[in-house]
Amino acid sequence: MSATAATTAPATTAQAVAFAAHGPADVLAVTDVPLPEPGPGQVRVRVKAIGVNPIDGKIRSGVMAAIFPVDLPHIPGQDLAGVVDALGEGVTAWAVGDEVFGMGTKTYAEYVLAGADRLVAKPAGLPWEVAGALPTAADAAYRALAEVGVAAGDTVLVHAAAGGVGGLAVQFARAWGAAVVGTAGEANHAYLRELGAEPVRYGDGWADRVRVAAPQGVDAAVDLVGGGVLGDSVALTGDPARAVSIVDPADAGANGVRFSSGHDGEDYLLRALASAAELYVAGNLTLPLAAVLPLADAAEAQRLVETGHVRGKVVLTVA
Ligand SMILES: NC(=O)c1ccc[n+]([C@@H]2O[C@H](COP(=O)([O-])OP(=O)(O)OC[C@H]3O[C@@H](n4cnc5c(N)ncnc54)[C@H](OP(=O)(O)O)[C@@H]3O)[C@@H](O)[C@H]2O)c1
Repeated sequence: MSATAATTAPATTAQAVAFAAHGPADVLAVTDVPLPEPGPGQVRVRVKAIGVNPIDGKIRSGVMAAIFPVDLPHIPGQDLAGVVDALGEGVTAWAVGDEVFGMGTKTYAEYVLAGADRLVAKPAGLPWEVAGALPTAADAAYRALAEVGVAAGDTVLVHAAAGGVGGLAVQFARAWGAAVVGTAGEANHAYLRELGAEPVRYGDGWADRVRVAAPQGVDAAVDLVGGGVLGDSVALTGDPARAVSIVDPADAGANGVRFSSGHDGEDYLLRALASAAELYVAGNLTLPLAAVLPLADAAEAQRLVETGHVRGKVVLTVA
């Protein structure tokens, strides 16, 4: 059975951003692509906002080609927020016109496909740009905390607490009743305090500064930056099972720590998104948008993320 008739889609083609060869952000270009047709279990979404993630640029540059090979030309992106536009066979959870956010494939586009089970309903009080920015970062933040068993009364060390994943990890951990120490540059220390974390400067001596900031001790640590922080993190937690990295498989392996890719283990996506939406609508979660740019400015958006110093998220929008 083919997809149900779309209500808003153009007849045959729509715009997307793609790259035809690996390279710097300049390789990204707006292009016309065939309107994607949802297969069984999928929906097509008319996109409103797209979160830009570090992985998008790593795939584009080719640095991840051995791990995430892609056919060229390739449309980047996995985060989306938008309106359900067509249903694939067997989809009963959603109706055309539903407002959703979640994870799909090739999401730097006006129309994208997503598994019906990779989406949650977007509440009216959650702005499109924030909804589009949440999926990958909220999933990773929630998963990392869950995998190290963060619970009320714990003190959690969050490395790179001012980034997209980090800010959400801080706020989930606070919502779960944990205290948080977060590493960031000095310019982000006031921001981290607003989120409810005790800020610590990264770089040489960071572990001693954490000991001062958390005299009660550190129970769990999440590495969102890599570069060799896990040895000292395990020394702080006293147990490799209470540390995790989402960035650095080599350092994780060397220290007996879990590397969390999201491709194995328990799936937290829907819980993470529902929780983030609920906290946001209740006024208990914030997500700064460092830049909100039109889809055509995807190259500029990826360049910003590639600085490694974005506070919160960069988002692309579709008019
Ligand atoms: N495995 C997974 O499932 C998964 C999922 C999502 C993301 N990731 C990865 O996780 C990492 C973080 O993602 P993200 O979206 O949060 O990135 P991001 O938003 O681009 O992170 C930027 C933040 O990193 C901070 N930072 C830079 N260098 C630092 C250092 N040495 N120590 C502490 N903080 C530092 C910056 O703070 P300052 O400006 O204060 O320096 C900035 O706020 C990326 O490598 C991404 O690819 C993995």
